[in-house]
Amino acid sequence: MNVHDTEKVVGTLFQQGYSQVETPEEAGLVLYNTCSIRDKAEQKVFNRLQNFKKAGKDKVFGVLGCVAQQEGEKIFDRAPHVSLVCGSASYPKFGDMLVQLEAGNRHVTGLSIDTDETFDTPFTRRDNPHRAYITIIEGCDKSCAYCVVPFTRGPERSRTSESVMQEARRLAAEGYSEIQLLGQNVNSYRDPSPAGWDFATLLARIAEVEGIRRVRYTTSHPRDFVKPIVDAMDENPVLCDHVHLTVQSGSTRVLAAMDRLYTRDDYMRRIDWLKNAKRRYSLTTDIIVGFPGETEADFQQTLDLLDEVQYDSLFSFKYSPRPNTSALQMEDRVAEEEKQRRLAIVQEKQRAIQIRRNAEMIGDQKEVHVEGRHHSLNQWIGRTTDNRTLNFSHPEADGLLGKYVNVRVTRSGPNSLVGEFTPAA
Ligand code: 5AD
Ligand code: SF4
Repeated sequence: MNVHDTEKVVGTLFQQGYSQVETPEEAGLVLYNTCSIRDKAEQKVFNRLQNFKKAGKDKVFGVLGCVAQQEGEKIFDRAPHVSLVCGSASYPKFGDMLVQLEAGNRHVTGLSIDTDETFDTPFTRRDNPHRAYITIIEGCDKSCAYCVVPFTRGPERSRTSESVMQEARRLAAEGYSEIQLLGQNVNSYRDPSPAGWDFATLLARIAEVEGIRRVRYTTSHPRDFVKPIVDAMDENPVLCDHVHLTVQSGSTRVLAAMDRLYTRDDYMRRIDWLKNAKRRYSLTTDIIVGFPGETEADFQQTLDLLDEVQYDSLFSFKYSPRPNTSALQMEDRVAEEEKQRRLAIVQEKQRAIQIRRNAEMIGDQKEVHVEGRHHSLNQWIGRTTDNRTLNFSHPEADGLLGKYVNVRVTRSGPNSLVGEFTPAA
């Protein structure tokens, strides 16, 4: 999501006549797009800003994104060489802010969060010529006890289906064949126009756009992940064989404390829909260890869940206390060393699962979308519909980027597969 935010900001810069340089040293304007989901990400921003405190006399600095929204004008005190502080909800006004900077204003802010503006993004400068992001919903109306997002990205705003469809058709016409729909919680998408499409309907329609061969989406909240989404996916293989369904914990008690609005059983029902579906979907998730009050027994339930679901991959994090969130007041903090221990156990268990699951794929034929090339290895980098990296050998040394190629898997590791090109039979 942040990568795509950067694409929107860079697009506006180009549109206003700016150009991009190779290094921050060469730049007249340096913008930091920031994340505050965990404390570590936030600290990084202030460390980086320090790097330029002395050397950046002739430069203009701006802080964008969630740290900007969260810290607001305090950033001007903490880093006086910063001239612009702007949260993501204000990006529609980013062009005006540039004009203010150019006029010499050294205290420009965009911190309003109750924006009603629809977010058409006409100037987006996309990094990848074959795979494009489309934001369908911004903000979040949930209130998970650990999470800063509702404070930094504001309330939910869905984009009209017409605007989303137009962007998808335009991208297809420009040669993009893969689309990734983005939102903090895509499943609660609700078309604000009279058509009133829900997320499953939007998915089905995007998949029908001529020229689009793959559609992905992220991220899914289990509470809003309803059966019609699985049915839509089953109907049309353009909708990729992958679901990222964030669980956070395997303990119903911890899920309640997190205010996640589902139990472990509710979650497992959704996993069952996916496991009983027409195709085999790869399943991935996010896990937090060491949430306040998480006991050894709760943690064991998370480990059991990993055994039960057999995820294809996961992201795992140590709980990090965030400003404004309700978990900040909770007692029974888990000690840092204990969080670290639990994190290591989760990662080790998952690694073993991935080694086994990936090894099962040896011998399979898979279609990959070619994304890059490892020149030193003489290998192409491909991605499968189920979101695995599959590196492969091919007689051609160029011209494959963006193409779809059949590959037979010959080797596997914990995080990727290796294979060789096989001509279609
Ligand atoms: N501490 C640790 N992990 C967090 N996440 C969100 N907030 C926190 C926090 N305070 C994780 C969740 C979420 C992912 C994007 O980041 O697992 O799904
Ligand atoms: Fe944060 Fe919960 Fe919203 Fe996800 S659903 S962005 S974890 S508040």
